[in-house]
Amino acid sequence: MTETMLTVSQLTKKYADKTALSNANLQIDQGEFVALVGMSGGGKSTLLRLIAGLEEPTSGVLTFAGGRPVIRVMFQNDRLLPWMTVLQNVTFKQQAKSLQQQGQKMLALVGLADFTDVYPAQLSGGQKQRVALARALMARPQLLLLDEPLGALDALTRRNMQDLILSVCQRQQLTTILVTHDVQEAARMADRIVVIKDHTNLYEERVRDHQDPAEVAIVAERVLQEIVGEAS
Ligand SMILES: Nc1ncnc2c1ncn2[C@@H]1O[C@H](COP(=O)(O)OP(=O)(O)O)[C@@H](O)[C@H]1O
Ligand SMILES: [Mg+2]
Repeated sequence: MTETMLTVSQLTKKYADKTALSNANLQIDQGEFVALVGMSGGGKSTLLRLIAGLEEPTSGVLTFAGGRPVIRVMFQNDRLLPWMTVLQNVTFKQQAKSLQQQGQKMLALVGLADFTDVYPAQLSGGQKQRVALARALMARPQLLLLDEPLGALDALTRRNMQDLILSVCQRQQLTTILVTHDVQEAARMADRIVVIKDHTNLYEERVRDHQDPAEVAIVAERVLQEIVGEAS
């Protein structure tokens, strides 16, 4: 049986006279992987920041069914500290043995077991994002928010990271919301795609078997049509 984790009702965010998000409604189930897609400036990051509690809504309500979960956010910029090693970036230099072990374990989970003592400058873009993912997992989050975390990666690295994120999310039974402007990526990764358009959510597409590449292409095309439809 699926349980609701989060309900967003009539959520609105205004900056002075600028509306970033307008009456958005969204329900997220426990363990679900949802992608938010849409054009730049549509309000995707704003919605994510409101869910993360980094900002307060102008109006509307956010309800977490089981109380506020542990939430972590991952951004396009890895935000690693250059003067700290990979392990130190993940543990924030805390010496407690349990934290050190947890750090090692999370780095192994993202395939970086052999890179604990390396500095960020010695890593590729994809590896840096893996460290950022390991760091996000340290708090054992129940809700993982990803704001275009793969946007700066080349296509092949991006693919590998998509697979890695998927397998980690499944293994940790994470509820995940991914913001992306890449409809292919959304169709490949998500259980459900939500299109954010004109600062609200206007359309949803359920994705079932995202293992089938042909199905992914069809779903992505439908979503793209929905995003650009009126403009053409
Ligand atoms: N802190 C802010 N101050 C003023 N306007 C903002 C702020 N954050 C976002 N906006 C505006 O709100 C709209 C939605 O932004 P955003 O949520 O970042 O869109 P997206 O992530 O979909 O590209 C944009 O027009 C943006 O300029
Ligand atoms: Mg954004």
